[in-house]
This record gives sequence, structure tokens and C-alpha cells, in this order.
Amino acid sequence: MTTTRTTVAIVGAGPAGLLLSHLLAREGVESIVLERRTRQYVEARIRAGILEASSVALLDSIGLGERIHREGFEHRGIYLQWPGERHHIDFVDRVGKSVHVYGQSELTRDLGRARDAAGQRFFYGVSDTVLAGLDTDGPSVSFRDERGEQVTIDCDLIAGCDGSFGPSRESVPESKRRIWERSYPYSWLGVLAEVAPSTDELIYAWHPDGFALHSMRSESVSRLYLQVDAGTDIAEWRDDRIWDALAVRLGDGEAGWHLTAGPIAEKSILPMRSFVMEPMRHGRLLLAGDAAHIVPPTGAKGLNLAIADTALLAEALVAFTKGDASPAEHYSERALRRAWRCTHFSWWMTTMLHTTGDPFEAKLQLAQLAWVTSSAAGASGLAENYTGMPIGF
Ligand code: APR
Ligand code: PHB
Repeated sequence: MTTTRTTVAIVGAGPAGLLLSHLLAREGVESIVLERRTRQYVEARIRAGILEASSVALLDSIGLGERIHREGFEHRGIYLQWPGERHHIDFVDRVGKSVHVYGQSELTRDLGRARDAAGQRFFYGVSDTVLAGLDTDGPSVSFRDERGEQVTIDCDLIAGCDGSFGPSRESVPESKRRIWERSYPYSWLGVLAEVAPSTDELIYAWHPDGFALHSMRSESVSRLYLQVDAGTDIAEWRDDRIWDALAVRLGDGEAGWHLTAGPIAEKSILPMRSFVMEPMRHGRLLLAGDAAHIVPPTGAKGLNLAIADTALLAEALVAFTKGDASPAEHYSERALRRAWRCTHFSWWMTTMLHTTGDPFEAKLQLAQLAWVTSSAAGASGLAENYTGMPIGF
């Protein structure tokens, strides 16, 4: 058995955990990151793909924006459509901000490289992670390393950055946490296709058959999504059925627009839910990202919310190590204010665009879409939320 020591033990090497270790190191605060998966797995898994203006600004400010600007795509807006109509919402005109298309896996790789260069201590491939002493001045995290050896990290603080299924959230006594949750009766079928995007900017499409989204990863890779019923078996969706549904829902042939099909490299089903745990702190444990809250992917808030939490958390932890506990005491309240704003926006985008089979609801959705795309106030509200509220909002 090995015992080691650090200032902050960071559970999880997703974007929240990696970015946190980077922000702490810049302020001279030492950390150790432990991760259940292998590094290859973490860097290859396909996740979100949109960075808000405030996320890009933060990454720029710490020297991590170079590849985003070189290889990512800056988008000034999105298309919202329903049968027979496609409207562009121009974020730059509305609120003076844009977003960048840049895969979460690319960001994870950039962060990993930056941490390697700085000599970050990592444990990948750990199992049996247990958090202890959260109510004391000397918390610890124990686990088995990739060779099966028992390791304990004694620390001053623990950052729970272990995503939707990690142990951090569950380490808070039940009597001290409250959960807010909404599940949706539909999922997304996501595909990664080896074909040039058929659009310059993302298309969010309402359709009586269900929602569809055309996104992208590069000049030669498209990312597309279809609304399917919750519990759908992926085997029911052969590639030709997927392309046929995408063509119908995205409006192939309408006003001269065409969807180009291509080989599907990966496909999976993504369940949709909204989830918030309050508070985001218990004693010496502070949560960030998916460990504390989950949003449905419509509107691309998950990654950005994790980045915003992490910026606030780094500030709080650095102050704590310098003897000022006040930012840590206010961390949960500050992070939750923004988390709830994003929870609302993601719920709103989701319920505006996904069909439920209820004709009254469909009428309401179309009325809302017509307003958002024709009113300056409606479009500005969407643009302000999509491009992101300031960190610390
Ligand atoms: N011990 C150590 N690490 C763990 C454990 C554990 N017991 N359980 C889970 N983890 C790891 C996961 O393997 C994962 O790599 O924690 C990491 C959490 O990373 P993410 O799931 O990427 O969460 P986060 O960093 O908060 O980023 C949020 O990810 O899910 C997307 O849409 C979401 O884009 C958003 C982003
Ligand atoms: C993606 O590219 O994966 C993506 C883009 C926008 C969303 C959700 C996902 O709203």
C-alpha cells in the first residue's frame, strides 16, 4: 500500500478535471488527477463539439486556444428550421459573440499535452475509488492503481470532477444533498460520418417525425443526430434508414439544399436528462461539471458548463490554500446560478424542438420557433444563451 500527499486530489480526467489541474498549477497549487479509464479511452471518446465565447476566451487566456483557432470553425450563428422554412440566427449581429466548433476529445488532448509538459501527476486506469474524511481537515482519496496496488492520497481538498457516474456525488450524505431531475421520453441517435458537412453552420430542425441536428467535426467529418424514442435499440437503425430519416427531417431537396450521405464511422444512442445536485460542496469536497449537473445536449451546454464551474472552482481552491475560505463557501451558490440558467436553456431548446406526438404541443413549438426566428428580442435571447453567459454570471 502506498500513501502520498498533495494539496488537491482531483477525481476524473475529463475536461473539468484536466482544466482544473491546469488552472491550479498556474497559481502554484499542486494536484494529483486520478481517472477510472485509460488515457486512450478518455481521449478517443466522442462527446460534445461546441465551445461558447467565454470558454474560448478562458482557454485563450491560459495559452490553450491556439489549436481551437487554427483547426476549429468559428460559427457566427445557427439555422433553426421546420418544414418549408429555414432561418439563420446571427449571434454576432445579435449579441456580438460567436461560438467555435471544436470536439471535446480535441480539447481533452490539448489539456493532456499541456499537463504532461508541466509534469502533472496522474493515475489512469484506477478502480475502487473511495473518498473519505470530507467533514475533516484531512480528507483522502483511496483507490487501486492500474496494477491493482492500493493507493491513498491525503490532501487538503478534493475536487469531484468524475462525471455523471462517478463516486464523488454519492459520497455526500443523502441528508445533505438534494436532487432535481427531469428525464425526457426521447433519446438522440448520434452518428459520426466520413463526409463533408452539407452546411456551413449547424442546423437544428423541428420535424413532425422528430428533431434532427446537423453538426460537424472537420471539413471531412459530419456529426448528425436524430430524435428517437427512449429505449430504442441501435440495431433497429441501419445506416440507410438513418440517412433517409436525416434527409426527410433536415429538408433534403427544399430550396435547392441537399444532404450528402457518406460512410458512418460510429453510431450510438444518447439518453437525455436534466439533473442538478445541490449543494455543489460538502466539507472539503467540491463538485464541478457533470458530477454536479447534467443537461440534455440540445444547445451544447454540458462541456461549457463544466469549463465555467472549473474556472470558479479553481479561484475558490486557490483562495482556500492562501487562507481565504470565503470563495469556497460561496462556490456552490455561484456555480449553481449559472448551472440553473443553462439547465433552463437546455430544457427550453429541447422542449421547443423535440416532438412528443401531442398536436397542441406541436402548435406551441411552431409558434415559439416563428417568434424566435422573427423577433429581435427572441433571437437575441437565444443568441445570448447559446454563445454563453459570462463565467461567474
Ligand atoms: N475514479 C476516477 N475517475 C472517475 C471515476 C472514478 N471512480 N468515475 C468516473 N471517472 C471519470 C470518468 O471516466 C470521466 O473520464 O471522471 C471523468 C469525468 O469526465 P466527463 O464525463 O467528461 O465530465 P466533465 O469533465 O464534467 O465534463 C463534462 O462531458 O459528459 C460530457 O456533456 C458533458 O461535455 C460535457 C462534459
Ligand atoms: C455536437 O456537435 O456534438 C453538438 C452540437 C450542438 C449540440 C449538441 C451536440 O447542440
